[in-house]
Amino acid sequence: MKITISQAPKHQDKTVTIGAWLTNKRSSGKIAFLQLRDGTGFIQGVVVKSDVSEETFSKAKNLTQETSMYITGKIVEDTRSAFGYEMQVSEIEVIHEATDYPITPKEHGTEFLMDHRHLWLRSKKQHAVMKIRNEIIRSTYQFFNENEFVKIDPPILTGSSAEGTTELFHTKYFDEEAYLSQSGQLYMEAAAMAFGKVFSFGPTFRAEKSKTRRHLIEFWMIEPEMAFVDHEESLQIQENYVSYIVKSVLENCKLELDILERDTSKLELIQAPFPRISYDDAIELLKEKGFEDIEWGEDFGAPHETAIAESFDKPVFITNYPAEIKAFYMKPDPTRSDVVLCADLIAPEGYGEIIGGSQRIDDLELMRERYEQHGLTGDAYKWYLELREFGSVPHSGFGLGLERTVAWLSGVDHVRETIPFPRLLNRLYP
Ligand code: 4AD
Ligand code: MG
Repeated sequence: MKITISQAPKHQDKTVTIGAWLTNKRSSGKIAFLQLRDGTGFIQGVVVKSDVSEETFSKAKNLTQETSMYITGKIVEDTRSAFGYEMQVSEIEVIHEATDYPITPKEHGTEFLMDHRHLWLRSKKQHAVMKIRNEIIRSTYQFFNENEFVKIDPPILTGSSAEGTTELFHTKYFDEEAYLSQSGQLYMEAAAMAFGKVFSFGPTFRAEKSKTRRHLIEFWMIEPEMAFVDHEESLQIQENYVSYIVKSVLENCKLELDILERDTSKLELIQAPFPRISYDDAIELLKEKGFEDIEWGEDFGAPHETAIAESFDKPVFITNYPAEIKAFYMKPDPTRSDVVLCADLIAPEGYGEIIGGSQRIDDLELMRERYEQHGLTGDAYKWYLELREFGSVPHSGFGLGLERTVAWLSGVDHVRETIPFPRLLNRLYP
C-alpha cells in the first residue's frame, strides 16, 4: 500500500510503500539510517543488513542525497524522534539517482542558498516556514468565512495608484499606461458596498528601493474591507483575526515550530485585546527611550517601531497618525483634523508593522479635495469617487502583510525566507 509520511501514524506495524527523497544518511557495516522526506513530512528509514537482501543493503549504503525512490517497510513507533515513528526498511526501488546535489548538510552562505531557492525549499527549515505560511492562509480563509466575509479578487493590472505614486511598477497595457497593483483596497471598497464584508488575498507590488529584512518587491496581502464598520470596530476585528491565526499556528504547526526552535511561550501571549497607543503618545515614548530628536509629524522607521514594540508583549496598535504622512483616503479624526482614523499594528519581538488600516473618507467633497491635493490622476478618480456618490456609508479596512506575519510566527529574521520565490531589489532569479 502506498502512503505518505504524514499518514504513517495510522499504519503502525503495517508494511507500506512511500515515495521519498533521501536527505541524509548514516551507515555502518551492519545498519544504515536513511533520512527520508516526501513533502508531507520527514521519517527515518532503518535498513538492517541481516534483515534484507544483500542487494537492498548495498543500495541503501550507496544512496546519494536527493535520490528519489519508492521505499517499502514496516512502520514502527520510535519514541526518540519528534515525529514518533520510523520505517524498518525491507525494499528500495530507486526512481532517479541524484549526483552532486549542491546543498549539502554543511553550512552555505545566504546568497548561494537564494541562488538555489528552487532546491533550498526542500530543506527542513524552509519546509517548516512554508507550512506555517500555508496554515496562516488556511486559517485566514476560515476566520473570514466564519465571520460572514465574502472573498473578492481585485485586479492586478490597474490604471491608478492605491498607495502613492512613487512605488508603482509601470507596465504597458497595449497602448495605455498601466501599473501592477500596490493594494487591492480601492476595488475592495467597491466590493464592500456590494457585499458588506469582503476580503482579498493576492500578490501586490512595490517598486521600492528598500533593501531591508522587511521589504519585498512582490508580497502577498490579505485585505478585508467592511461597510458600516468604524475605526474602533475595525481594530477589534484585526485583533481577533491576528489572535485566531496565531492560535491556529500554535495548534496545527507544532512540529514546524519545533524544527524552527520558535519560542512559543511568546506566541501563547497573543490574545485579544491588543494595547493601543496614539501617535502622540508614541512620540513621547520614543523621546523617553532615547530618540530625543524625533519630532511630531515624522514617520516611524524600523528602529522606532522596534522600540515601541519592546514596551509590550503583544502586538500594539499605533493609532491616529498625522494626516500628512498617511494615504489620501484616510478619514480625519472628527475631533482633530490634523490626525486620521488609522492604525498600524506592530508585531512584538522586532518584526515590525504587519497591518496598516484605517476608516475611509466617505464624504464625496472631502475625497475629491484629497485626490486633488495629492495630485492623483488615473482612472480611479471617476469610479472611486462614485462610491461616495451613491449611498456612501462609514467603512473601514486593513491590509495584513503575509510575509511579515510568517516571519514573526516562524521566528525567521528576514522576509526572503517567508515566500517561496522572493522578489528582492537585486533578485529575480530563480
Ligand atoms: O501599510 P500598507 O502599505 O497598506 C496598504 O496597502 C493599505 N491599502 C491596506 C488596506 O488598508 N487595505 O501595507 C499593508 C501591509 C503592511 O503593514 C506590511 O505588513 C505589508 O503590507 N507590506 C509589505 N510587506 C513586505 N514588503 C513590502 N514592501 C511591504 N509593504 C507593505
Ligand atoms: Mg503601512
